[in-house]
Amino acid sequence: MKVRKAVIPAAGLGTRFLPATKAIPKELMTLVDRPLISEVVTEAVKSGISDIIFVTARGKAAIEDYFDIDAALESHLEGKGSEGVLREIRHISRMVQVSSVRQKEPRGLGHAVLCAMNAVGAEPFAVILPDDLVDSPIPCLAQLAEVFGNTGKSVVALQEVPPEETHRYGIIEGVQTGPNTFRISRFVEKPPPGTAPSNLAVIGRYVLVPEIFPVLAGLEPGSGGEIQLTDALDRLAARDEVHGLVFDGIRHDAGDKLGFLKATVHYALKDESLGPPFMRYLLDTLAVRGGR
Ligand code: G1P
Repeated sequence: MKVRKAVIPAAGLGTRFLPATKAIPKELMTLVDRPLISEVVTEAVKSGISDIIFVTARGKAAIEDYFDIDAALESHLEGKGSEGVLREIRHISRMVQVSSVRQKEPRGLGHAVLCAMNAVGAEPFAVILPDDLVDSPIPCLAQLAEVFGNTGKSVVALQEVPPEETHRYGIIEGVQTGPNTFRISRFVEKPPPGTAPSNLAVIGRYVLVPEIFPVLAGLEPGSGGEIQLTDALDRLAARDEVHGLVFDGIRHDAGDKLGFLKATVHYALKDESLGPPFMRYLLDTLAVRGGR
């Protein structure tokens, strides 16, 4: 069955980016010239998704506005003859169907996904965490969708992380079933240092079967006092196949300042017109610093 819907949790307070996030949703912070969230929405569209469900909270209305049609702006650009920008503005608001549901209390990622239950209905769906940016020739979600297409079972994106970082992630235990695939038997959310069952971390891309919803609904708070998606996957794995795919691509964690800066440099260097002068600037700056 085709994966048509993607849930994008975007209700977080963005405290790591205060004071900026006092007035701007973290998801709209700018990566070169685009809001962060447009990266993952574009990835979803390129992966065949036709419906996006944002899970938002108070103060996040600007996310929907970004993907909405702005008739006044379009006629202004038309009048000015700004063809290129106009084309892009039109594309952003028409490339995908967008809706949103509210997460009224910050009760964790699992709870955020549960908030989208009625909007998703009884079909397989994707979850995309907008902090995790993956740059790859084949979109990361499309790589997962292919595994789902072959198995019909839930599949999560995996990446090897250094042992000293496993406490920051959901970590899996499983058996390898192919060059990059695993059948997962156990998930642990943010295991204390030294207790992780492997160094394979779950990265923010999931294709899930709708059977995950009743599991989420029955969960008690887990790590950090929050309802964890990882805990629901652990329960699901006890009774159904859950697969993992070590995806092909470069991942940036734009959820903290250093990761966001690294992502900015990565995407700026990739930009056709900005890349070369920015690279010269970086090299000059490094040479000056190195010479000190
Ligand atoms: C979330 C998930 C975690 C996953 C991570 C990937 O954690 O709970 O299992 O490994 O995203 O980025 P968060 O980064 O929101 O703390």
